[in-house]
Amino acid sequence: MAAKNILVTGGAGYIGSHTVLQLLQEGFCVVVVDNLDNSSEEAIRRVVQLAGDAGKNLSFAKVDLRDKEELNKVFASKKFDAVIHFAGLKAVGESVQKPLLYYNNNLVGTITLLEAMTAHGCKKLVFSSSATVYGWPKQVPCTEELPLSAANPYGRTKLVIEDICRDIQKSDSEWKIILLRYFNPVGAHPSGCIGEDPHGTPNNLMPFIQQVAVGRRSALTVYGTDYSTKDGTGVRDYIHVVDLADGHIAALGKLFQDNCIGCEVYNLGTGKGTSVLEIVTAFEKASGKKIPLIMASRRPGDAEIVYASTEKAEHELKWRAKHGIMEMCRDQWNWASRNPWGYGSPESHS
Ligand SMILES: NC(=O)c1ccc[n+]([C@@H]2O[C@H](COP(=O)([O-])OP(=O)(O)OC[C@H]3O[C@@H](n4cnc5c(N)ncnc54)[C@H](O)[C@@H]3O)[C@@H](O)[C@H]2O)c1
Ligand SMILES: *[C@@H]1O[C@H](CO)[C@@H](O)[C@H](O)[C@H]1NC(C)=O
Ligand SMILES: *[C@@H]1O[C@H](CO)[C@@H](O)[C@H](O)[C@H]1NC(C)=O
Repeated sequence: MAAKNILVTGGAGYIGSHTVLQLLQEGFCVVVVDNLDNSSEEAIRRVVQLAGDAGKNLSFAKVDLRDKEELNKVFASKKFDAVIHFAGLKAVGESVQKPLLYYNNNLVGTITLLEAMTAHGCKKLVFSSSATVYGWPKQVPCTEELPLSAANPYGRTKLVIEDICRDIQKSDSEWKIILLRYFNPVGAHPSGCIGEDPHGTPNNLMPFIQQVAVGRRSALTVYGTDYSTKDGTGVRDYIHVVDLADGHIAALGKLFQDNCIGCEVYNLGTGKGTSVLEIVTAFEKASGKKIPLIMASRRPGDAEIVYASTEKAEHELKWRAKHGIMEMCRDQWNWASRNPWGYGSPESHS
């Protein structure tokens, strides 16, 4: 049987690069499409190195998804068996400041991709959705059936894309689509060669802690210390990026095996909630660094406790997260201490 060809949009990014490595290791042939808007070609080079022999089965096209002509050239170059669609902008705060940028990039990019897939008869898709579509969940754990809402333009792009996927699948039963709702991806490949490389001020907790630990920032601000949680700080479901990448392999397997999948949604989380202070303590242990804290009031818009129900993914994808918080912190620190400036240099971050 010939190896399957997978097109990965946003494959130079944080989650994409880890998934591409695992795809290569599983024997898939991969073409990455990325405009490098928020990533570096260095990530692709490192994935090729890490993959060894299988590295030759990766190729890269620097293309913006909204560039219809260039995108169609990529689809014309090969027959793709499926697409994994990571590409998008994801900074929540920035999406509030620049909603049109987010609607244009995420929605127009996705629609252009879906049109190219239709034109070339590739109708299997895995899409990166987010736990953000649960808004402020009224109950935890979050099951896939909870009501959905958008708290900001970024979240709205995820909701709209999920709806678009359901609509096209309804209109044409040849489509098979899996929507994956990620909880909070952290950590890095255990080699320490690839990881998350935020430009500017990080939006998420872990990259922020990492930058404090390597001395790029002086302290971590903890927003909200009076939530009704174990220690008053916000609780989230952190998932090791390698487990998350595995979830994509499981989803692809489902698309290739299950003829009546239609359009299905799965949470990818661990099912466990961890507080900000618990993460800080674990990271201090893993790194041997003290993380100075500044306690601050709640940030408007933040939910108190969010964690996943993982039952559906366990039953139907035969997938579950294997790594715990200590391994997440260990691998995050391994990456951060080897690459204090990510893929760049101090100058590239000034
Ligand atoms: N990291 C998280 O916390 C998280 C949580 C839930 C969902 N997600 C989703 O997962 C996906 C991947 O996230 P990530 O953390 O790897 O982010 P990332 O920014 O590291 O990766 C996204 C990649 O997409 C590329 N890209 C953006 N717009 C593009 C365009 N128009 N054309 C081509 N390439 C484009 C960027 O250059 C980048 O390499 C995103 O869709 C994100 O919304 C991420
Ligand atoms: C690379 O892809 C080819 C098919 O094109 C496949 O036969 C081979 O096993 C792959 N290489 C590795 C090391 O996975
Ligand atoms: C860019 O990527 C980093 C992670 O590598 C992430 O923290 C940041 O939110 C991303 N920015 C945008 C605009 O998506």
